[in-house]
Amino acid sequence: MEKRLLQTLPSLSGEPECYLVYDAAVEAFAARLLSGGAFRGSLALEVSEQAKTMDSVLTVCRFLLEAGATRKALVVALGGGTLTDMAGFAASIYKRGVRYANIPTTLLAQVDAGIGGKTGVNLDGYKNMLGVIRQPEWVWLCPEVLSTLPLREFRCGVAELLKTFLLSDAALYADAVRFFSGLSSKKAFSEDKSMVLAGLSSKTGVFEDRLRDLIGRAAEIKEGIVERDLYETGERRKLNLGHTFAHAIEHEALRRGDDIRHGEAVAMGVVLAARLSEALGEDSTDKPWNDAPSARGLSAPSAHGLSTPSPHGLSVGSASLAGRLAADFAACGLPVDCPYPIASLVDAMHRDKKGETEGVRFILLRRVGETEERVLQPEVLLELL
Ligand SMILES: NC(=O)c1ccc[n+]([C@@H]2O[C@H](COP(=O)([O-])OP(=O)(O)OC[C@H]3O[C@@H](n4cnc5c(N)ncnc54)[C@H](O)[C@@H]3O)[C@@H](O)[C@H]2O)c1
Ligand SMILES: [Zn+2]
Repeated sequence: MEKRLLQTLPSLSGEPECYLVYDAAVEAFAARLLSGGAFRGSLALEVSEQAKTMDSVLTVCRFLLEAGATRKALVVALGGGTLTDMAGFAASIYKRGVRYANIPTTLLAQVDAGIGGKTGVNLDGYKNMLGVIRQPEWVWLCPEVLSTLPLREFRCGVAELLKTFLLSDAALYADAVRFFSGLSSKKAFSEDKSMVLAGLSSKTGVFEDRLRDLIGRAAEIKEGIVERDLYETGERRKLNLGHTFAHAIEHEALRRGDDIRHGEAVAMGVVLAARLSEALGEDSTDKPWNDAPSARGLSAPSAHGLSTPSPHGLSVGSASLAGRLAADFAACGLPVDCPYPIASLVDAMHRDKKGETEGVRFILLRRVGETEERVLQPEVLLELL
């Protein structure tokens, strides 16, 4: 697979036909792109999980049809995961599939949703029931676009980014926790809670460079996993760490009318997955961090902050894996305690199975960088957690 993650917008001048489909929340950024004159047409969509449906996909398809888009078209999707999922799906079915490219505008989409080619929409309240896997032509990772992102959304992206590092690299994970937990105490966050990254325009640019670096690393790790397992028949499934719980939590939240974002559910889900791993004896609690493949051979653990106490007073090596993860995610401003009883999650997992007869697949974390898959009947959670 050729390199698809870009740090700058590629020249569109050689493109015969470009169309911009964008999230209305990033109107100003879209206007800047459109002023370049490369696009034949554009469509703004009001984005929400409820509107992530075939109706919206058909709106995009009709727009392309009315604009006279041919099979040479390139659809550029500008927005968070909701928008890129829908626009990517529309492009993938319009005239049996035209090319699309992503400019993800949420942190979550930059490190996760915008990469990997999973596109799709919800059906009758069931998440991502319709869709295809089709790779984007390219993905432009532009941290500047995050400057208007609400803090809560930003933190959701932090949850997915930490999850990705947990799958692969203890040093990066520790680095990211230090960076994002440090941000919580910075002025950029406390002065205006609705605008995350005043720091993006900081004079030194150090903040931006660091953020760009972490986004790039997470995106590359995900892309690498996807390259090795395009259709999620094996390794790619580990990206679902925490997600069996997260989806149950989201399902339950939807049922009760609670407001829980996907990234927040992922934070809770990763902690629950670690608890389950421990309960099943998967966690090697004897310093799992230092045994992680990528941490081996690095200098002292303190070089990547692993031996220092977390802000919650848990020192690594003395607490359980789940306890340490909970402390880290909480320090980054994420909720880590699932508000629902395990029995509710078990019910939600049954509802989510939709006719599948075997048990439910869980990704367990033995240590940073090492996961294991287990298919379990949800009821065992009642005994184990
Ligand atoms: N395809 C995949 O592999 C994949 C992976 C993970 C999640 N997803 C999907 O992604 C969706 C969630 O995506 P998300 O977390 O990016 O959220 P989102 O796309 O729903 O965006 C969150 C909110 O932020 C707004 N927004 C987006 N960018 C902004 C910006 N720069 N400034 C201000 N506001 C902005 C949006 O309008 C929306 O209100 C879910 O539907 C999920 O199923 C897909
Ligand atoms: Zn996710």
